Amino acid sequence: MEILIRPTPEAVATQAADIIAGYVQHGSVLGLATGSTPIATYQELIRRHQQEGLSFAGCKVFMLDEYLGLDPQHEQSYARTIRREFTEHLDINDADVFSPSGNSGDPLAAAADYERHITSEHVAIQLLGIGSNGHIGFNEPTSSLNSVTRLKTLHPQTIRDNARFFDTPDEVPTHVLTQGLATIRRAGHLLLVATGASKAAAIAATVEGPLSSMCPASTLQLHPHATVLIDEEAASQLTFREYYQYADQNKPAFQGY
Ligand code: PGA
Repeated sequence: MEILIRPTPEAVATQAADIIAGYVQHGSVLGLATGSTPIATYQELIRRHQQEGLSFAGCKVFMLDEYLGLDPQHEQSYARTIRREFTEHLDINDADVFSPSGNSGDPLAAAADYERHITSEHVAIQLLGIGSNGHIGFNEPTSSLNSVTRLKTLHPQTIRDNARFFDTPDEVPTHVLTQGLATIRRAGHLLLVATGASKAAAIAATVEGPLSSMCPASTLQLHPHATVLIDEEAASQLTFREYYQYADQNKPAFQGY
């Protein structure tokens, strides 16, 4: 696993934009995430599109997850959120932005359809946030490391965490459709971003803890190309950081490394 520690959330966003931009070309398939952490990365990519000519034409986007019971037009649906915060500001075809169907009358079939669709493509890079309990996507602790896209019940803490986006806590959906951990691991490169002290324990468990369904993000340990990009606060519980910084500053100068 590559561990990149940057001084500030802004520096994390700049580096994340650098990494993602490296995959953006006609025909690329990008896996994206909602949540607060990636917003600064999206703003930086929008700036590069508007000011530096970074083109997303011909790219496809697959989202990690969606609330069950929300119409795609609902302001807090993740289908709507990614458009408002990112893809509407780019030259990407709106019909090429895909999410699990949160308002299907048959959520189990919708999950299976999404799994079939995403596994028919090659996701070049999957951007991930992390919950303070170690979830990625909406794979809460105890999610099978071999899970695929499916219906999940949210942890009450996740519902409380997400209540800030809704008028009242009662409006937060209790169930979701989410890519599974095996689905996520199919992407060519996993890029997990985290900032702030509230993520420090989850980051330490992800990077230095045992591979465990109690920390779903530890599934990155199984992936041949995973990058954990964090600020100083999120890195504050890592014990092996001298090595991470040394490796970061002494990258071999081989082509393609
Ligand atoms: P956050 O959410 O980026 O808003 O902290 C991350 C997550 O819960 O996956």
